[in-house]
Amino acid sequence: MADIEYLKSQLGVHPDFPKKGIVFLDIFPLLRNPVAFETLITNLIHHLTSHTIPASPSKKIDVVVGLDARGFLLGPIIAMRLGAAFVPVRKKGKLPGQCVSATYVKEYGEDSFEMQSDAIKPGQTVVVIDDLIATGGSAKAAGELISVQGGKTLEYLFIIELTFLKGGSKLDAPVYSIVQSD
Ligand code: ADE
Repeated sequence: MADIEYLKSQLGVHPDFPKKGIVFLDIFPLLRNPVAFETLITNLIHHLTSHTIPASPSKKIDVVVGLDARGFLLGPIIAMRLGAAFVPVRKKGKLPGQCVSATYVKEYGEDSFEMQSDAIKPGQTVVVIDDLIATGGSAKAAGELISVQGGKTLEYLFIIELTFLKGGSKLDAPVYSIVQSD
C-alpha cells in the first residue's frame, strides 16, 4: 500500500464527536502504531528537506511552532530532526512570562492563543504544525503571533486537511497536508 493510503487507513473516524454533525478524525490510532508514526515523520521530514528548505530565504528552518494540543506531539520530533527550535503556541493563560496573544474562531467555538514574547527573533524562518486544519482560524492566529515577532512563516503543515472548509485560503503561506478529506 502507498504511504499516504496507509497513513489514511490508520486514522480513526468518529461521526458526531464532539457534537452532532462533526466527523472527528482521530490521529491517535496512527500514533499508537510505531511503523505508521515513523512513516508520518519520514514523510514530513522528506517534504521539508526537499521542498521547504531549498525554497527558504536562509536555506534553513529556524523554528518549528506546534499548536496546542496535538501539534505538541509532532512539533518537537520534527524540530529535533531538523536541528531547529521548538516553540509552543498555547491556549491563553498557560504560558509564564510576557506573551503575545491572538483570538480566533474555530469549527466549534472561540479561543485565544499565546506565544512567549521572546520565542522568535526577527528574521527567523518558521514552519507551523498541527494535526488538522479545519477553518484555518487557529493556524491564522499562530501566523499572527509569528509575524508580530518578525518571524517569516514558510509553510503550515498538517496530517489532515478538511479541504471543503478552505482554511488554507486564510493563511499567509502555503499548506502541506498528508491526507485531504472532503
Ligand atoms: N478539529 C476541528 N475539526 C476537527 C475534526 N473534524 N476532526 C478532528 N479534529 C478537528
